[in-house]
Amino acid sequence: MIKFIPDYSLAESNSFHIQARCLYYFEFSNPQELPMFLRAFKYDRRMWPVFILGGGCNVLFVSDFKGLVIHSAVRGVRKTAEDAAHVWLEVGAGEDWDTFVQYTIEHGYGGIENLSAIPGKVGAAPVQNIGAYGREAGQYVTSVNGFDIDTSRFEEYSAPKCAFGYRTSIFKNRLADRFVINTVTFRLDKKPDFALDYKDVRQETDALGGPTLQNIRTAIIAIRRRKLPDISTVGSAGSFFMNPTVSEEHAAQLRNKAPDIPLFRSGDKYKVAAAWLIEQCGWKGFRDGDTGTHPSHALALVNYGSATGAQIWELALKIQRSVVERFNIHLQPEVEVIGLG
Ligand code: EPU
Repeated sequence: MIKFIPDYSLAESNSFHIQARCLYYFEFSNPQELPMFLRAFKYDRRMWPVFILGGGCNVLFVSDFKGLVIHSAVRGVRKTAEDAAHVWLEVGAGEDWDTFVQYTIEHGYGGIENLSAIPGKVGAAPVQNIGAYGREAGQYVTSVNGFDIDTSRFEEYSAPKCAFGYRTSIFKNRLADRFVINTVTFRLDKKPDFALDYKDVRQETDALGGPTLQNIRTAIIAIRRRKLPDISTVGSAGSFFMNPTVSEEHAAQLRNKAPDIPLFRSGDKYKVAAAWLIEQCGWKGFRDGDTGTHPSHALALVNYGSATGAQIWELALKIQRSVVERFNIHLQPEVEVIGLG
């Protein structure tokens, strides 16, 4: 089934609930419908830009999008292979991520339980390699199938070709705005190997009676509910910036200035908690009109009602500047900022 709508409102298609429109919106549920549509529409990249939208949970529209928005609503969860230790599941890009996580737990398949309660669609999981509490989606992805608008071909990317990194992949870089994901195949463990390195997760799981897939899920849902905005009631895209990495030398300078700074070793560098940097600059719980940062997590920017994308972006820039001034660290957005001109 397809939907093709000119002058479409994206307000319900982004978790910031920004009132933005696009020139054309195209949604399909059968992978063959996309090339058929592009041929019939005589789509040419020089006419309009394309934006590939998943659940809209990691995007900020700072203005209307003067182009074609494509949304893959391919559904289904299909077991494609199984051996003694693993199961392979091919999942439609349009499936809700957390409903899929719930499904894996109900079937006793381990791997992505720590990624419970992350909003968005399955198709977006490999794009920004979603991660939380010591696990990343990319560790469990074996291949990604989709349609490349530039070559007009269906392609399969095996995991090594996906170039997964911290909140990044080939789909966010070389293939951005051209590769429309239709299905993602995950390899999950029949004998779960739990990741309980995060103190909060371990404590909360122990309080529930010890590690099981369901207890980890319950614990993580509770932790996220306490810390992060509930996007069913408030506009947000979770973490707005990525956690930056700094050199050993810079880390030592930071520790001299602020001995309690949360620093995490990452290869020969250090990862710094962006939320901490932002909180130190006085932004936690800040509110100006309908824009602000969440009172329980400084890294989550919030639209409290009718903020515009430009107003949220203005706040992001102010935060960015103050972190540069105080710590000499340039925070990079984690959300995709669309329409900066
Ligand atoms: N912290 C503060 N102030 C705050 C919030 C946190 O100082 O307002 C400190 C905490 O005390 C902790 C550190 O910052 O020492 C890290 O905080 P947290 O554990 O909440 O994780 P995070 O690094 O802020 C990342 C991901 C989240 C993911 C969590 C859990 C990024 C950009 N964000 O957040 O992902 O849920 O870890 O693993 O990597 C998302 O991407 O949208 C997202 C929510």
